[in-house]
Amino acid sequence: MDKLLYTGKVKQMWSTNDPEVLRVVYTDQATAGNGKKKDNFKDKAELNNQISTLIFQYLEKNGVPTHFIKKISDKEELVKKCEMFPLEVVTRNIAAGHFSSRYGLDEGMRFAIPVEELFFKSDELDDPILNSSDAVALNVATKSEQEQMWSLSRQVNQLLINLFDEAGMDLVDFKLEFGKLHNGQIVLADEFSPDNCRLWDKKTKSHMDKDVYRRDIGDLTAVYKKVLARIEEVLEED
Ligand code: C5P
Repeated sequence: MDKLLYTGKVKQMWSTNDPEVLRVVYTDQATAGNGKKKDNFKDKAELNNQISTLIFQYLEKNGVPTHFIKKISDKEELVKKCEMFPLEVVTRNIAAGHFSSRYGLDEGMRFAIPVEELFFKSDELDDPILNSSDAVALNVATKSEQEQMWSLSRQVNQLLINLFDEAGMDLVDFKLEFGKLHNGQIVLADEFSPDNCRLWDKKTKSHMDKDVYRRDIGDLTAVYKKVLARIEEVLEED
């Protein structure tokens, strides 16, 4: 019998009869402000599962190791079991969100080189920002593990800047999470969807990500459907 191992803000993790494989179940919930705002959106589970599946397959095809095995239903996928680093690995190409509020900048400035930020995953502490030596001191990740995560994040950034560009969107920023497989390999884990990145339409600059929900400026389901349709179109051409 599969056991429920973990319930996150938008996903559940279940055991399977293979100890190295987990089943992820997406839910229709969206949260903002570390869970302070919460709502359900019809079709969100299917949309996130499908978008994340396409992105993880695209990254794997281009040499990024991930936990992804396969999608098994509209709302479920199988992933390799990993020991997660309690870190949020954020890359920013354009100023937005907390970078803009922290430094008092308007959103939209394109950076000369991507900004790289690390946050400690902790609901009680509200995910505080931390630097590389803090992460070593807290026994969260060694220098070498952090370097591997940043190297993979840079690869992901380059690949996804190109993919979203072809789909008519700017990849403004995104958050990744990493885990370690049984054999010690560091792989990209969690998901990649408009929940954990910012996408701006290249022409209109309109928001095509969870900011429509965070800021109450649009219809989340309609926007996520548009993102999916655009990336499907680009990937079908390949
Ligand atoms: O809020 P902030 O500007 O720091 O977010 C940077 C990027 O990281 C955004 O794409 C946001 O969606 C993502 N993020 C996330 N989960 C968090 C915090 C940020 O996916 N807990």
